[in-house]
Amino acid sequence: MADTGASRARFETRAIHVGQEPDPATGATIVPVYQTVTFTQDAIGRNRGYEYSRGVNPTREALEKCLASLEGGSSGIAYGSGMAAIHGATQLLSAGDHVVVGDDLYGGSYRLFTRVLPNFGVRFSWVDATRPEEIDKACESATKLVWIESPTNPLLKLVDVAACAEIARRHAAKLVVDNTFATPYLQRPIELGAHIVVHSTTKYIGGHSDVIGGAIVVDDEEIADRLRFTRNATGGISGPWDSWLTLRGLKTLSLRMREHCANATKVAEFLAGRPEVAAVHFPGLPDHPGHDLARRQMSDFGGMVAFDLAGGAAAAHAVCEATRVFSLGESLGGVESLIGYPWSMSHGAFPPEEKRRKGITEATVRLSVGIEHADDLLADLEQALARASAAK
Ligand SMILES: Cc1ncc(COP(=O)(O)O)c(C=O)c1O
Repeated sequence: MADTGASRARFETRAIHVGQEPDPATGATIVPVYQTVTFTQDAIGRNRGYEYSRGVNPTREALEKCLASLEGGSSGIAYGSGMAAIHGATQLLSAGDHVVVGDDLYGGSYRLFTRVLPNFGVRFSWVDATRPEEIDKACESATKLVWIESPTNPLLKLVDVAACAEIARRHAAKLVVDNTFATPYLQRPIELGAHIVVHSTTKYIGGHSDVIGGAIVVDDEEIADRLRFTRNATGGISGPWDSWLTLRGLKTLSLRMREHCANATKVAEFLAGRPEVAAVHFPGLPDHPGHDLARRQMSDFGGMVAFDLAGGAAAAHAVCEATRVFSLGESLGGVESLIGYPWSMSHGAFPPEEKRRKGITEATVRLSVGIEHADDLLADLEQALARASAAK
């Protein structure tokens, strides 16, 4: 879109056009993969806006502009993985700083917050973020960040982003939201008052399970400059190919999310009617404790579903190993359906008593519902549940 009206267009249009004007050098309609380390300078101290690809690379820059636009922020900063982005955000901290963190979060973030960052003098208080008053109580004068996910992984609990933002602001802290599960198509934390949005773009944003990446979006240029400085200083960038693949995935985010949401709703309703299933965790079900909040802060309920098998660990193992369309694997958010066992997979880093306290048991199974035909997904789950009850 030569006319920069793209930045004022609707979400679907911005996903395809923002940051993706025809290439100024060649007119290429699609942003090229600028697979180059360095940029030839016209004279000493005179370049064309690019010097060295760890600092700025045009392919990564296109992705960053597009992500910033979709999240409603002013700047995007793309990293080599979701964990690199999460680590990047924590590099805003110094020794002695304190973080209040919602205790239901991705196992890799838990590992970073419990086994790496304390070595650098950063302290964490863990709270049940579904009760924002717990965050308020845990904040102290040294609190610099409040860190939440919503919906949470793997039990799809809802956290009130606007309430957490208000509390963080009152304590002069910044609210960070890991928006990986919802994506900006379903939820835009900056519009709800959050300061920093982090993503594993490996998931729905890339969307095809073929590229690892991460990103931060902020609406504050002072924070953006600090993040860009630290990323350049530490080096955890998204490379040109990975940025390009992620940008290609991003173009179809809205289409894919609509299918993920529709299929997940069908899967959750199917599971809720099955005798082998003791509980279904999906915010789209009216009896989910976060259903009303999800209706307020999200535009749909997402593509993730978790459930507990009535037959316990043996039944959960049997289901995970019996599906054929759902592949047993780590990750989520790709077009293909995945089944996972949080107890030893995504949440293996949590001690057993922690998992149990959060409601994750040996009977819990997590689904990343893909965009295959819904009938094939339901048939696959039906045959897997039948095998699980036969295995008892
Ligand atoms: C919510 C969430 N945040 C962050 C990450 C880390 O992302 P990555 O695997 O791209 O480092 C994950 C990975 O599963 C995740 O689920």
